[in-house]
Amino acid sequence: MLKLSRSNFERLRELVYSNTGINLTFEKREMVQGRLFRRMKQLELFSIEEYCDYLFSPEGKALELHKMLDVITTNKTDFFRENEHLVLLSETLLNELFNSILGKYDCLNIWSAGCSSGEEAYSIAITLEEYFKKNDRRDYTIYASDISTTMIDKGKAAIYSMTDIYGVNESILKEYFLRSKDSEKAIVRLIPQIRNKVKFFKNNLVNDEVKKDIQMHLVFCRNVLIYFDRSTQEKVVDKLVSAIVPGGYFFHGHSESLVGMNMPLKRVSPTVYKKVYGK
Ligand SMILES: C[S@@+](CC[C@H](N)C(=O)[O-])C[C@H]1O[C@@H](n2cnc3c(N)ncnc32)[C@H](O)[C@@H]1O
Repeated sequence: MLKLSRSNFERLRELVYSNTGINLTFEKREMVQGRLFRRMKQLELFSIEEYCDYLFSPEGKALELHKMLDVITTNKTDFFRENEHLVLLSETLLNELFNSILGKYDCLNIWSAGCSSGEEAYSIAITLEEYFKKNDRRDYTIYASDISTTMIDKGKAAIYSMTDIYGVNESILKEYFLRSKDSEKAIVRLIPQIRNKVKFFKNNLVNDEVKKDIQMHLVFCRNVLIYFDRSTQEKVVDKLVSAIVPGGYFFHGHSESLVGMNMPLKRVSPTVYKKVYGK
């Protein structure tokens, strides 16, 4: 059977929820079915039932679970997505941070949490490089994490297609991206100076601990919370906020909301918050 039965959908729903926090409502059944179909074909299986039997077997749990999660997660991202955040950063927040909590010597630590294939992290790095052309240069590190190893590997490689860079400003492309030497290949790669500023690591925002050893000044968690139910959103935001130093900032996506959450945060704009005291 090519259709995902209600009982198999429920089993999958639970498996996905317990492993990622992603809340698959029943309306997502067709989407899930389509994505599993891809795995079914790759494994040369003939039905979704057969695929589910394999997935829930001990062998499937060991070998297939992360691949299933890879196809289920939505990794849509873009360079300079929701660019107002980056404009706010370069026009206001960086000056303020460097003049206040960072003092003269601290390294600015930034976390792109749920970074997908790295476009968000690299856009932040380019924004900082542009800022340092007009201001004193300071050290910074961008940590970029995702639950998907495939996305992390893509981010580390920093190789993108022409479609991926569609809409990126021409002067930014010239300065920060290298064209493939092979003119047949329509691909680009970020220059080493930008690649070296981003440290990718695998992290499950729902089930793993946050990095306790590094104090973050800026945390971007955009277009990730939207896939979680409210209680998981609160748990994840609480973890991320605990990683931010007082005076640092938290950014979420425009389709997400923190309204009603009891967090040590002061609202700066509908999607940007300042951490106000330690937790
Ligand atoms: C739609 S992308 C958003 C990418 C980027 N932040 C942006 O705004 O363009 C959502 C990302 O969240 C990741 N994700 C989903 N659940 C996660 C979890 N529990 N822990 C970490 N990352 C997760 C997915 O793998 C996916 O790459």
